[in-house]
Amino acid sequence: MTTLEFPAGFLWGAATAAYQIEGAWNEDGKGESIWDRFSHTPGKIRDGATGDVACDHYHRYREDVALMRQLGLKAYRFSIAWPRVIPGGFGAVNPAGLDFYDRLVDELLAANIQPFVTLYHWDLPQALQDRGGWGNRDTCGYLADYAALVVRRLGDRARHWATFNEPSVVAFAGHRTGEHAPGLQDERLALQVAHHLLAAHGLTVQAVRALNPQLNVGIVIDCWPVETLSDSEQDRALAEMIWQTSPGWFLGPLFQACYPPQAWRSYGDQAPEVRPGDMALASQRLDFLGINTYSRIVVKNGEVVQPVPGSEYTEMSWEIHAPALRRMLARVQRDYAPPPIYITENGAAFADELSPDGGANDARVHDPRRIAYLRDHFTQARLAMDDGVGLRGYFVWTLMDNFEWANGNHVRFGLIYTDYPTQQRIIKDSGKWYAQVIAQNGLED
Ligand code: FCB
Repeated sequence: MTTLEFPAGFLWGAATAAYQIEGAWNEDGKGESIWDRFSHTPGKIRDGATGDVACDHYHRYREDVALMRQLGLKAYRFSIAWPRVIPGGFGAVNPAGLDFYDRLVDELLAANIQPFVTLYHWDLPQALQDRGGWGNRDTCGYLADYAALVVRRLGDRARHWATFNEPSVVAFAGHRTGEHAPGLQDERLALQVAHHLLAAHGLTVQAVRALNPQLNVGIVIDCWPVETLSDSEQDRALAEMIWQTSPGWFLGPLFQACYPPQAWRSYGDQAPEVRPGDMALASQRLDFLGINTYSRIVVKNGEVVQPVPGSEYTEMSWEIHAPALRRMLARVQRDYAPPPIYITENGAAFADELSPDGGANDARVHDPRRIAYLRDHFTQARLAMDDGVGLRGYFVWTLMDNFEWANGNHVRFGLIYTDYPTQQRIIKDSGKWYAQVIAQNGLED
């Protein structure tokens, strides 16, 4: 018996990103991206891994879509590699790159899977970085032009378009801490980049709508709940500041046409240059809000607590605490009155291993902790819907183990195990379990 049912039409999916799975980094006319440059720079990625081959999805997409069909996915969220379609970032188009995404979309539709496209999942053309990257306001217009090109080609079949994946990670991991490409460490630049991402988002929404007002356009924001372990005023204020300088820094402009005032003041003269009209540009009406969420940040006695005593952690050292998901969704619904919400990423990394108990030609991957993680988070999401949160779909991160940015190939998030030396894919127990959830449109006891 299904005990926790989801509404008819609830969109169950899985998500990936181009650089993490495609490989073929310099094939068929693709240009270099900042992640190619970064991963080829010694010392940037754990064990010197790169995305040069990754899951070789560029060549194996048919097999991968067949696996998605086997799982019964209703939707698939993937990103387009900008330098694959416009190698220099603007100007000359690479037809072979566009053709790849065209074939992928057709393959998905033939499998009855809705494509959810992300335009920018971190792999800026290196040629644009050479001109200042996201620190240069011209990049905003180039994103909108690139978006128009791919929407002209795919917009007759792909109905859902997200401008950015996690702009805060682009701005802050890329330009403040330098853990991600392009690896810069400059606070003022990071805040200016964040502002340019919002402007670029606005221009891109306008460009997509101008081509086809029927399309659903949105953005994906990483929303980690920030919670306190005490009732102290000081802890609450710190938690609030952490929220407002991360998801709030984007959700404010997007839905309230305003940066969070206290956070803005805290930046003093590091705050970005904002031109007249920018806040109206950033706050275009959206058709959906994508939320990526994995864990929470916990504050106690005036500081972030890590680890939280008694809590369980994933391989990313992210705390597992599903009830925070429900509280965070309620907060987003209340404070920002967003359009329909999709959880565009949620999942967990564990040290999965192949086990031979299925016989010589049938290896298995037993990942009960991932099943428990997903079950608990699906449950909290369903409860949030009862609270009035307008959640329409859920994308598990990720379809198959892939290149996990600075962590290289060490960290496995997939519903499907990737055996990198052979490129064999093996559906994990969690993948089989997820297929059942989708088939039943809910959870069993
Ligand atoms: C998110 C990214 C995604 C993946 C997960 C684990 O921040 O959007 O590409 O790496 O984390």
